[in-house]
Amino acid sequence: MDSTQMEHEHHEEGYAEDTAQSIVGPMPIARLEGMGGITGTDVKKLAEAGYHTIEAVAYTPKKTLITLKGISEAKADKIIAEASKMVPMGFRTATDVHARRAELVHITTGSSELDKLLGGGFETGSITEIFGEFRTGKTQLCHTLAVTCQLPIEMGGAEGKCLYIDTEGTFRPERCLAVAERFDLAGEEVLENIAYARAYNSDHQTALLIQASAMMAESRYALLIVDSATALYRTDFSGRGELSARQMHLARFLRALLRLADEFGIAVVMTNQVVAQVDGGAMFTADPKKPIGGNIMAHASTTRLFLRKGRGETRICKIYDSPCLPEAEAMFAIAAEGITDAKE
Ligand SMILES: Nc1ncnc2c1ncn2[C@@H]1O[C@H](COP(=O)(O)OP(=O)(O)O)[C@@H](O)[C@H]1O
Ligand SMILES: [Mg+2]
Repeated sequence: MDSTQMEHEHHEEGYAEDTAQSIVGPMPIARLEGMGGITGTDVKKLAEAGYHTIEAVAYTPKKTLITLKGISEAKADKIIAEASKMVPMGFRTATDVHARRAELVHITTGSSELDKLLGGGFETGSITEIFGEFRTGKTQLCHTLAVTCQLPIEMGGAEGKCLYIDTEGTFRPERCLAVAERFDLAGEEVLENIAYARAYNSDHQTALLIQASAMMAESRYALLIVDSATALYRTDFSGRGELSARQMHLARFLRALLRLADEFGIAVVMTNQVVAQVDGGAMFTADPKKPIGGNIMAHASTTRLFLRKGRGETRICKIYDSPCLPEAEAMFAIAAEGITDAKE
C-alpha cells in the first residue's frame, strides 16, 4: 500500500484507536445534545457561532458564551458544566505532559538541517510564525508544508489535510505538485487535500476561521497556513490613529487561531513581514528590521522563526523565540521541488 492510499483511508474511515493514539480526535459538539438539559437548538446555535467541538466550548470563558445569540447565562453554565466533564482540564503530572509531548507529531520541512533545528519539524498543536523580508522563502516553505503534512507519520507527515489562507495571492498549486512528485504522492490527491481560500480583508480573514473550524470538525486536518497573517492589517488599518484598533482586531484573529491549534491539535503556521523600525532604534541595533504586530504577534506564536537570505538559493533560518529550542541557525535551500537541504 503506498503512502497516498494509506492517507486516503485515514480520511475516509477516520482513525482507528490503536493506530493513532497521538492524534486524539476532538469531540463533535452534537454529543452535548440531551445532556443536562442542552437541546438540539442550543447545539445548533453553538455550531453557527463557530463552536463545532466540545473542546471549543470547554476552553471558552463564560462571558464569551453568553454573548452568543440565544445562549442565556443559565444555559452557558449548563454547557460549561457538561463540556468540562468530557474534556480533561484539571491538573495532571509532568510525567503525563512529558509522555504527551513525546507523542507530538512534527511535520517535515523538506530540509533535514531545518528539521533538526526545529526538533523534527513544525510542531502540531502550536503556532509557528515565520517572518523575514520579501523573497526569503516564507511562501515556498508554506507550499512544501501543505504537502508534507499529508505524508504518513513515519515519513515526517501528520496524515492530515491542509487549510491554506492566502492574503497576498501568491499560492501556486504547481509548486505543491512539484513537492508531491518529490515525495511520490499522487498530485491530484495532494491538491484535493488542500483547502484554499483567498482572504480579501481582515474581517474576511477572521471569518474564514469560523469556516475552518467547521471543516476541521468534519475531517482530519493537520495544518493551517496563514500567508501572511499581517499583510491585510497593514492595508486595512493605516496610521497611528488606527493602531490600537488594528492590534485589537489582530489579537482577536490570533486568539481564534490559537483556539484551532488547541482544539484540533493542528499545526498553525503563519507568516509575517518585517518593517524598518521607526522609533530610532535603527541607529543602535545591528538589525533594524522587526516583525509586524508587536507584542500581540510575539505572544501569540509559540515558536518564532526568522528567515534571511544566504548565497544564491540558500536561506538561513534562526530560532528567534521558542519555549524549548536554543537560539540556533540552520541553512536550507529553495529548489524546484520545494524546500531542500543546501548543497555544499
Ligand atoms: N520553482 C522554483 N524553483 C526554485 N526557486 C523558486 C521557485 N519559485 C520560487 N522560487 C524562489 O523562491 C524565492 C521566493 O520565495 P518566497 O517564498 O516567495 O518568498 P517570501 O514569501 O518570503 O516573500 C525566490 O528567491 C525564488 O527564486
Ligand atoms: Mg510570500
